[in-house]
Amino acid sequence: MAMAANNNDKVSIVGAGNVGAMLAQRLLEHDLSDVVLVDIDEGLSRGKACDLQDASPIIGCEKEVIGTSDYSIIEGSDIVVITAGLPRKPGMTREDLIQKNAAIIRDVASQVRKFAPQSIVIVVTNPLDIMAFLAYKLLGFEANKVLGMAGVLDSARCSNIAAEELGIARTEIDSVVIGSHDTNMVPLLRFSQAQGTALDSILDNEKKASLTEKVKRRGAEIVSLLKSGSAFFAPSAACFSMIKSILKNEHLTQCASVLLNGEYGLRDIFIGVPVVLGRTGIEKIIELELTRKEREKLKNAADAIKKSVISLNIQP
Ligand code: APR
Repeated sequence: MAMAANNNDKVSIVGAGNVGAMLAQRLLEHDLSDVVLVDIDEGLSRGKACDLQDASPIIGCEKEVIGTSDYSIIEGSDIVVITAGLPRKPGMTREDLIQKNAAIIRDVASQVRKFAPQSIVIVVTNPLDIMAFLAYKLLGFEANKVLGMAGVLDSARCSNIAAEELGIARTEIDSVVIGSHDTNMVPLLRFSQAQGTALDSILDNEKKASLTEKVKRRGAEIVSLLKSGSAFFAPSAACFSMIKSILKNEHLTQCASVLLNGEYGLRDIFIGVPVVLGRTGIEKIIELELTRKEREKLKNAADAIKKSVISLNIQP
């Protein structure tokens, strides 16, 4: 079963679970690209692909979607998204997941390296910054072609929660969240704007602290409400927006976990920072002027990521 030859962009999604399937749906509803859903559970990926195909006449989608467990079908992908992994359970931290998901990333990265060596890879599997770094090391791709999805999601969460607090439209807030995709993340309220004014100058200290805390805990809040599985509507929307920036060559600035090479005083680490995304992947890393306090928080996040990475004993 191969995909018909055409000029469509091709996005392969490894992991046809909640995030993967919802992302596939978003890509098809926007008629953005052909989609390959790959899962270790072949029935799951094939079943979801059939269901998505059935929706195409209704939603007016001409793109193809295939479900498979055969990695050779991802050949020629413009983008490969890795969502394969175990989601967090209530009470489980992202760190608890590290060893299990690392084994999955090792498996998936070797297949992507073999069948889609020209692709841009977006990692979604948690713990995000660690899995993105591991994937980068194992893939051996250029640094501008491997990135982790987290900053767009965390920034959207910050905008949403701030909008509720201020009583203004969610789309009127543009937030910037850097650092790691866990409780060490660094919402930058000086760079986050509501109707053109920095959140830092609108909110009092108590509200700033409460907003920051709520953003940090949002993922865990959703995990405990769901009782099984983790968030997928917003993560898939965030991933879709990054894919669109890349395929449509939008040159948009979005936060993502990327390899730093001296920027922000950090190197040989994946961590969230603002980047410009276009057809070649990461076109530019934006280095914001941080205060000493902000830098310290970013450094704390980086130190924790490095500690976890050491525990993986990565041999590229
Ligand atoms: N190869 C391919 N697919 C795999 C593998 C593997 N080695 N191991 C697991 N999978 C698949 C599972 O069969 C499952 O269908 O990955 C899918 C994961 O889907 P869900 O359990 O629904 O998880 P989801 O909510 O999509 O989250 C995926 O994103 O947000 C993160 O923490 C989250 O790491 C998790 C990932």
